[in-house]
Amino acid sequence: MKLFTKKSKAVVGIDIGTHSIKLVELAGSKANPKVVAWSIIPLPAGAFSENAITNPELVADALNEAILKSGTKAEAAAVAVSSSHAITKVLGMPSEISEFEMEEQISIEALHFIPYPIDEVNLDFEVIGPSASNDQENDVLLVACRRSIVDDYIDLIEGSGMALEYVDIDTYALERVYRSQNTLGSNSDEPVAVFDIGSSSSHLMVLDDNRVLYSRHQNFGAAQLIKLIRKEYGVSADEAEEILASSQPPGDFLTAVQEPYVEMLRQEVSRALQFFYSSSSFSNIDSVVLTGASCALAGLAGDLEVKLRSKVTVMNPVANANVQTRREAIAAASPALAIAYGLSLRGLN
Ligand SMILES: Nc1ncnc2c1ncn2[C@@H]1O[C@H](COP(=O)(O)OP(=O)(O)OP(=O)(O)O)[C@@H](O)[C@H]1O
Ligand SMILES: [Mg+2]
Repeated sequence: MKLFTKKSKAVVGIDIGTHSIKLVELAGSKANPKVVAWSIIPLPAGAFSENAITNPELVADALNEAILKSGTKAEAAAVAVSSSHAITKVLGMPSEISEFEMEEQISIEALHFIPYPIDEVNLDFEVIGPSASNDQENDVLLVACRRSIVDDYIDLIEGSGMALEYVDIDTYALERVYRSQNTLGSNSDEPVAVFDIGSSSSHLMVLDDNRVLYSRHQNFGAAQLIKLIRKEYGVSADEAEEILASSQPPGDFLTAVQEPYVEMLRQEVSRALQFFYSSSSFSNIDSVVLTGASCALAGLAGDLEVKLRSKVTVMNPVANANVQTRREAIAAASPALAIAYGLSLRGLN
């Protein structure tokens, strides 16, 4: 019997999106994860505006519902701040200096690129590893986020009776899931593009074998799909949501809605990739990986692949996990759960 193995603490990953709250609790280990609790609860209109919480009561009610539905008993949570609210920068720091000296130096450097008073931001850093351009230095990732945004999350999570253990950035949560399933660089020198389709915005991030090369937000999301459905069938937003969730959409859905939507998506992904190419030495990517609840749409990846002429898959965060609760339902829901899953991975050894 091992006496001194570090026991991992259950951490619930909570992704508070503008359209819905997603919750995932993992147990086991990184090598053998088990999904022990999960849920998705839609948020009512008016809870969010511009990616920020505008009605805390509505969000708190939905969070309590998500906790109840999932059945989680965990006491600690991890949440993600949208990378559109965060400023990140990689700095070179002498490899010899102490943690304390590094903190001092980072606070000074931060003054140069953070456009807010320094006492209004939360600052964090992580040593990534030896710098490629200077063998005396380490690359250090510096992340800054407005304190008011983090405070909203602290109030919300603590209000639900849990302790907020980690505040992450959505990009790193998605990166963590992707790397937990894939080894980049083994088959291709080209990076992978992860495209997270949210409700009214989407987020392209490009990963190479050891870091995030690029991250960018666009004003495009599943709201365009809802708009197309409303226009085509003359229905309300709620009815459009029902059509999307239904296993039997109208007979002409593929030609009247999905085809034009995939064309819009192709344009958005192509445009986002052009921005990446023009800011880097790359002119190609290995593949595109889609995430977000709307990627559950049957045939989406295949349709986009044909138009984009690049490999396209939908991320399945639970692909390697042993799902212990509501196993059938998670198959259709899994593209929505990527960020929450990546957050919960923080609690595993
Ligand atoms: N099974 C499904 N098939 C197709 N679309 C779906 C399905 N379930 C939900 N959607 C759509 O996905 C959209 C919401 O996506 P998601 O929950 O990923 O957004 P969010 O994470 O809350 O938003 P954001 O990331 O922008 O903050 C909604 O427009 C919804 O209609
Ligand atoms: Mg989202």
